[in-house]
Formats: sequence, C-alpha cells, structure tokens
Amino acid sequence: MKSFHQLYHCAIVLIGLVSCGNYEEFKEDPSALFQGSLTPNGVTFKEVKEQIFDARCAKCHGQDYSNYQNVIENLDGITATIRSDFMPQDGPLSNELKQMLFTWAAAGAPEGEVIVEPIVVEPTFDSLRQTIFASKCIRCHTKGGPAPFFLDERQNLMVYATVFNPFMLDFEFPEEGDFIKRLNSDDPVEQMPPARSGLELLSDEEKEIITEWIRRGLP
Ligand code: HEC
Ligand code: HEC
Repeated sequence: MKSFHQLYHCAIVLIGLVSCGNYEEFKEDPSALFQGSLTPNGVTFKEVKEQIFDARCAKCHGQDYSNYQNVIENLDGITATIRSDFMPQDGPLSNELKQMLFTWAAAGAPEGEVIVEPIVVEPTFDSLRQTIFASKCIRCHTKGGPAPFFLDERQNLMVYATVFNPFMLDFEFPEEGDFIKRLNSDDPVEQMPPARSGLELLSDEEKEIITEWIRRGLP
C-alpha cells in the first residue's frame, strides 16, 4: 500500500489543485481517488422515477410520485419507508435500487444533470458526513436505523464513544480502535458496511482520511 503520507498529501493536493507524486492518476478525472463510492454519477430524477417510482410504486400509489415536486416534499418519508423495507409493500427494493435512491437523495436529489465537481474529502466531520458516511453508513447509522450510534450527528457519536464503547476511538493509535478495525475487518458480519448491505467496503484512501480525522480528535 502507498504510504499514508503520500495518500494524504494527494488528498490535500486535490483541494489545492497543485501537483503531487501521484497527480498523473487523477489528471483526467480528479474524482478518481474516490470513484465509485461518492457521487450520484449522473443519476437524475428521470432514472429514479423510471426504475423505482414508476416500476415499483405506481401500481399502488398512482401518480403520487410521478412528479419531482411531490417526491421532494415527501422525500424523508419515502427514504424512511424504503430503508425499513416497509415499502414497496409487495417486496423490498434490490440493494442496487436502494443504493441508487439513497445516493441520489444524499446528493441533494437533483432533478436534472448535475455537473459533478471533483470530490474533495477532508478529515472533518462535515466533509466525511456529506461524502463517505452519506453513501456508505448513514442509511443505518441514523435515528431510527438499526445501528447503535449515528453518523449524521457528531454529538451522538461522541456520547456513544465515551459512554457505550470507550474502545471505539483511539486518538493516538486509530487503527487500534474498533471504528477502524470494523472498516478493516474481513468478517462479513463484523465489517462495516456489513456484507449484507451490498455496499462496497471503503477504499484504502477513504480509510486513511477517516484515520487522520480520528487522530486529529474528530474535528
Ligand atoms: C402493493 C402496493 C404498494 C406498493 C407497491 C407501494 N406501496 Fe407505499 N403504501 C401502500 C399502502 C397500502 C400504504 C399505506 C400503508 C399504511 O399506512 O399502513 C402505503 C404507504 C406508503 C407511505 C407512507 C405514506 C403516508 O401517507 O404516510 C410511503 C412514503 C410509501 N408508501 C412509499 C412508497 C414507495 C416509495 C413505493 C415504491 C418504492 C411504494 N410505497 C410502493 C401500498 C404500496
Ligand atoms: C446495513 C446497515 C449498516 C451500515 C450500512 C453500516 N453499519 Fe455500522 N453497524 C450497523 C449495526 C446494526 C451495528 C451494530 C451491530 C454490530 O456491532 O455489528 C453497527 C456497528 C458499527 C460499529 C461498532 C460499534 C461498536 O460499539 O463497536 C461501527 C464502528 C460502525 N458500525 C461503523 C460504521 C461505518 C463507519 C459505516 C460506514 C462506512 C457503517 N458502520 C455502515 C449497521 C450498519
């Protein structure tokens, strides 16, 4: 694996758009560092409507979710019923379709094409929440979700790590804490995100940024 310093340096460099040792790799697509896990990559309302709302909801909900405005007004309810598999009432969506919907919602539910900006992930809670946690963790680690603490609320994470699992975050040696151990685990049940979610595991680069965030004391 590439050394931590090099990787982290490159992440910072992406922000500044100055060159670094590995710049060649990112030249054509600056988001390559985090490809496949963070962007809606062109998913618009049209795809979500055709593949999810028309195909799986309209037979019972008629025109309820056929226009953008109605969907936006009900988005929280829609994602909540799908996350819990309460909807569609005749059987849950496939993991692929769930991922499509959640990623689209996490990206701000764009109606049309979005110009995908190079993605910059910084070792801060806000940046991680909007990128890695939004696409890979928050569907479970949120209020009402199955996981024991939230990743969309910093305070909740701190309280959990202090009161319920003091071994979760090791600020001096982050790799020794359960948080990073879970990201590195090979066990399909232990690993986060768990294998059953159908979500891809985090890349080494994503793990390095989270490790640095813990080392800095969760800014
Ligand atoms: C087989 C019929 C059926 C399908 C398919 C279906 N629903 Fe439903 N849905 C219902 C029924 C019936 C209710 C009312 C259930 C209740 O209140 O217990 C409901 C309720 C809901 C609610 C709560 C609405 C409210 O007023 O609180 C949401 C949100 C919802 N459905 C979203 C969806 C979405 C999104 C899809 C497609 C991904 C979908 N449903 C597919 C039958 C269906
Ligand atoms: C499919 C739902 C789901 C997803 C997605 C998910 N988790 Fe979890 N996570 C859980 C559940 C449920 C638990 C509690 C059971 C357990 O410990 O395995 C848990 C436990 C954990 C724990 C252990 C807490 C402790 O006390 O030791 C950590 C750390 C964690 N998750 C981090 C993450 C991170 C980071 C992500 C995203 C990269 C993520 N999870 C994605 C469901 C999920």
